[in-house]
Amino acid sequence: MNPHVTFRQLQVFESVGRHLSYTRAAEELHLTQPAVSMQVKQLEHVLGHELFDHIGRRVYLTDAGEILLHYSRRIAAELGDAKQALDDLKGVDGGRLRIAVVTTVNYFATRLLAAFCRAHPRVNVTLEVTNRNSVIKLLEENATDIVLMGQPPDSLELTAAPFMDNPLVIIAPPSHPLVGRRRVRLEALREEAFVIRESGSGTRAAMERFFQEKGLAPRTRIEMSSNEAIKQSVEAGLGLGLVSAHTVELEIAAGRLELLDVESIPILKRWFVVHHKRKRLSSTARAFVDHVMNATREIDRTTRRRRRSRHGSR
Ligand code: PGA
Repeated sequence: MNPHVTFRQLQVFESVGRHLSYTRAAEELHLTQPAVSMQVKQLEHVLGHELFDHIGRRVYLTDAGEILLHYSRRIAAELGDAKQALDDLKGVDGGRLRIAVVTTVNYFATRLLAAFCRAHPRVNVTLEVTNRNSVIKLLEENATDIVLMGQPPDSLELTAAPFMDNPLVIIAPPSHPLVGRRRVRLEALREEAFVIRESGSGTRAAMERFFQEKGLAPRTRIEMSSNEAIKQSVEAGLGLGLVSAHTVELEIAAGRLELLDVESIPILKRWFVVHHKRKRLSSTARAFVDHVMNATREIDRTTRRRRRSRHGSR
């Protein structure tokens, strides 16, 4: 890359690229708008590529802009890691910790995090909650330290340790005719419509794989990008839902949703704590991984016990 590119230019470019707005980038970076466009112009000049298209009043990334945005984020992340590694040398118990979790994990991630922050009050934590495809992208771009997710992808070099069961269950409104029936055949689901997660969700991928293996293609009625929306739709009678058991504990306890007793369900998955193999973990990040492994052991035992007693009582 041209040696005249500066980190500041990349930082300004990244902010414009993220907001797709010079005004918002200027606000974020406490610069004037002309200063922001000047930095972007200089960068375009030294690189010999236009980075943005201006169509009407809107700003779009060009192909070159998309590529540079990806590398700008990686460079910023590497610099952050360098700072963290230097802080570690000084034995600092603090610094930053970037955690990303899939939406489904968020049901217990905040509790895990609260206990960790109590033990490490000087750590500055950012928690990103998004779906499976997006956390994979964060790992690719070195934009996170630790990820909590379902089955890690084979396509990346990752270090992954399973820490807890993730049973996927079928939920129904209490008035549904299959509620209370024992060992319902999978075949019976052919007649049912499902409310499903968006593509990119790990839950959705697991559901599709499961039904495909069983030679079934249940009807899907509506697609929704959050577990909360799915639960509410199921409760309102829009269809059945297939979700992680962790997401419905409260609704089941309150009698607002019911679990269906269907053969081969729950689908048993595991949660994993994951980081990129080439990433050097700070002592804070290592402490967080240990915390996840230790703190979830008890939750895992209780969930297994509950599951066994539910099956036993049928
Ligand atoms: P998601 O996560 O459905 O919230 O994407 C589940 C998973 O990673 O398996």
